[in-house]
Amino acid sequence: MTNSTLSSPPTRILVFDSGVGGLSVAREIQQRLPQNPLVYASDNAFFPYGTKGEAELIERVDQVISELLERYPSDILVVACNTASTLTLPHLRSKLSLPIVGVVPAIKPAALMSTTGVIGLLATPATVARPYTHELIREYATNSTVISLGSSELVQIAEQKLRGEEIDLDAIGRIAQQLMQADQAEKMDVLVLACTHFPLLKDELAEHLPEQIKLIDSGAAIARRVEFLLADCAEPAEGYTPEHIAVFTKATTAAEQLAPALTGFGIYQQAYLNI
Ligand code: DGL
Repeated sequence: MTNSTLSSPPTRILVFDSGVGGLSVAREIQQRLPQNPLVYASDNAFFPYGTKGEAELIERVDQVISELLERYPSDILVVACNTASTLTLPHLRSKLSLPIVGVVPAIKPAALMSTTGVIGLLATPATVARPYTHELIREYATNSTVISLGSSELVQIAEQKLRGEEIDLDAIGRIAQQLMQADQAEKMDVLVLACTHFPLLKDELAEHLPEQIKLIDSGAAIARRVEFLLADCAEPAEGYTPEHIAVFTKATTAAEQLAPALTGFGIYQQAYLNI
C-alpha cells in the first residue's frame, strides 16, 4: 500500500529546538516510533536561546511555533529544548490545543539514582537560572547537593560537531574541570545533561569526567511520553516509509552544512521559513 492510499494520514510529530539539540530527542522518538514522520524544526535565526531574555524568548517561540503548525500541521508538539520548555510551556499550552511535551531537567531521576546525594546539573545559563529549575530542585532533590553549571560554549560546540567541523576537545575538558572544582564535586555520581545539545557530546564529556559519574538526560523519557500520548492514533500501514523534514527559520550556509548529519536521522529534506 502506498502513502496516498492510506485512509488516514500518519501521525506527524513536530520536534522543536533552537538548533540541533532537539535531534538528541528526535533520535529517541525515532527509536520508539520509527514509522511516524517527523518535522524537525530549528530556530537557527534566533539561536542561541540560552542567552536570550525571557520576554523576547516567549514571544519568539510563540511566533515560530504558530508559523510551523500552520505550514506543517502536526498531531503533537515536542519542545525539545530545556531553555524554552522551562519558560514557555504554560503560555503554549494556554494557546494551542494539540498535545505538547516539554523537555525539562531530569532532576527527579538523578536524585533517585544518586547514591552519594551529590548530583550535577549542566545546562544553558538561562536554564540554570530559571525559577522552574529551582522549583524542580526544591521538589525532588531537597536532600541532595546540586552542583550547577551553565555553559553556552558547549551548545556552540555541539552545533560545530553536527556541521562536521573539528571541535575543541580542550574546551570541553575545561568545562568538565570547572564543574569538578565545585565543593563536594568529588562525590558527584550523576550528572544531568539539561540542555538537549549536550547528549550530542556525551562521549566527549564522559572522557573528561570521572568514571563514576553517570550522564543522564530526558530524551528517553520524552520518547516514552510521546508514544503514550499517541497510543490511540492509527498505526501507519505496513510498508509505509515516513518522510522526515528539517525546517530552519533562516537559510544559512551553516544550516546547509548540517545535511550529512541529518541523513543520520533519516532526514533528507530541508526547508526554510525565513522568519
Ligand atoms: N537545546 C537547548 C536546550 O535544551 C538550548 C540551546 C540554546 O539555544 O542555548 O536548552
